[in-house]
Amino acid sequence: MSMPNRTDTLDRIATLAKRRGFVYPSAEIYGPPGAIYDFGPLGVLLRNNIRREWWRRFVQEREDVVGIESAIITKRQVLQASGHEASFTDPLVECRICHERFRADEEIPEAADHAHDLTEPRQFNLMFRTYLGPTVEDAALAYLRPETAQGMFTNFKNILDTARMKLPFGIAQIGKSFRNEITTGKWLFRLREFEIAEIEYFVRPGSDENWFETWLDLWEAFFVDLGVARENLRRYEHPPQTLAHYSKRTVDLQYRFPFGWSELAGVANRTDYDLRRHQEFSGRDLTYFDETDGSKYHPYVIEPTLGVERAMAVFLIDAYREYRGGRAGKEDGREVEVVLHLHPRLAPVTVAVLPLVKRERMPQIAREVAAELRRTWVVEYDENGSIGRRYRRYDEIGTPWCVTVDSQTQKDETVTVRDRDSMAQDRVKIAELRAYLTPRLEAAPLRAPTEAR
Ligand code: GAP
Repeated sequence: MSMPNRTDTLDRIATLAKRRGFVYPSAEIYGPPGAIYDFGPLGVLLRNNIRREWWRRFVQEREDVVGIESAIITKRQVLQASGHEASFTDPLVECRICHERFRADEEIPEAADHAHDLTEPRQFNLMFRTYLGPTVEDAALAYLRPETAQGMFTNFKNILDTARMKLPFGIAQIGKSFRNEITTGKWLFRLREFEIAEIEYFVRPGSDENWFETWLDLWEAFFVDLGVARENLRRYEHPPQTLAHYSKRTVDLQYRFPFGWSELAGVANRTDYDLRRHQEFSGRDLTYFDETDGSKYHPYVIEPTLGVERAMAVFLIDAYREYRGGRAGKEDGREVEVVLHLHPRLAPVTVAVLPLVKRERMPQIAREVAAELRRTWVVEYDENGSIGRRYRRYDEIGTPWCVTVDSQTQKDETVTVRDRDSMAQDRVKIAELRAYLTPRLEAAPLRAPTEAR
C-alpha cells in the first residue's frame, strides 16, 4: 500500500533526490544553498527529458512556433522599456530585533523568542545587477534577465525578417532567469537562479481572448499527458490587483504541492504592451504589416510560461510513492519501498540491463544488450547485489524497465523484461526488445492514488 502523503513528503523527496544524484544544494560545503541548486547525473537527464518533451510538442511539432536562445545579460534599456526596472519589485520589511527580512505581502512566520518589530515596507527590485566592462558605474549597468520573454520581443523584427513568419506565430525559448527573491525555501519551488520555458505567441488584436483559452488548454495538457494527476492541478484566475504590470489577464496553473496549492505555470495576455514600449524606447518600428488587409499594427501577445525546476519538482512529487512492507504485500511494516512512477519518456534511465548472477556468459550478454539499446535510450548496466535489490534501486529512480539476462538467455536468446509499475515480467527475444519497448514509451504510468496531502 502507498503511505499517506504528509507535509514532510517534500523533505523525503529532497533527500532521495540528493542521495540518488538528482539535485544537490549548490556549494553545500560552504553552507546553506541560498535558493541555488545544482543538478547531478540523474537530474540532468530528467531536465533534458522535460526540455525535450516541451520542445518537441511546442516547437518541433508546430508549424507556427520557432525557437531562439537570447542572451542572459540584458541591456538596461530593455528592462527600462519593459517596466521591470520600475515595477519588478516585492514589498520588503525587516524586523528591527532579529533583522530577518520578509515579503510584506506574504504570511510572516513568528519568531520563537520575540514578537517581530517590522519596518515600513519598501519596494525591493528583484533583478540582479551587473556591469558591462571594467567600470562599476551607472552608465555600464546591465541586468541578468528576470524572464526570457524580453529576448523574444527584442528579436521580434529579426524573426519576422529571417523566418518569414505570418500571424499568428510564436517564438519559444528555454533558458536561465534570475530573481533575487526575498523569501526562499521549499526546495526547488522558489529559486534565485532557475529556468523558464515560455512562448510569446503573437496574434491579431481581437483574436487574443480565444488564443488565451487555447494555450491554457495546451499548457495543462503538457502536464497531464506526462502523467501528472488531474486532481492535483487547478486553474487560478488572477484578480486585477495581482496582475503583473503588463497583463490584461493571467491564469495560473496551480499544483497541489505538499505545502498547499501553488503556481506551477501560467498563461498571460500581455496585449501589445511590450512591443509598443520597445518601439517607444528604441525608436524602431515594431509594427506588423498584415498582408491580408494591408493594415499595420502591434500584435497582441499570449504568453504561456512555466518554470523548469517547478515542473521537475512536480513530476517527482506526483510520481513518488512509498510502499510500507514492500509492494509484494508483506505488510510487516519493516521495509519501505520507494517507487518513482515517472512517465517513461521522462525517466532519467529508460532501461537497466541486469545479469541475474555474475556467472557464465550472463554479464557478457547483458553488456552487449545494454550497448545495443544505448544507441537509442539511456541504459545502465548493473551486476551488483541481489536481483530484488537491483529492481528496488531502479524503481527508486523511476526506471520503467529492467531487462534481466538469465541462464535461459544463453539457450534461446530471450530475456525477461520487468515492468516498474505492474512488476509483471515478460519473456522477450533480444532481437525484439526494441520493438517491445518502443510503443510502451508512450503509455501513461500506473500508480496507486495519493491520499490527501
Ligand atoms: N515571462 C513571464 C514570467 O516570467 P512568471 O510567472 O513570473 O512569468 C514564469 O514566471 C514561471 O517561472 C512561473 O510559472 C514559475 O513556474 C517559474 N518561477 C517564477 N519564479 C520562480 C522562482 N523564484 N523559482 C523557481 N521558479 C520560478
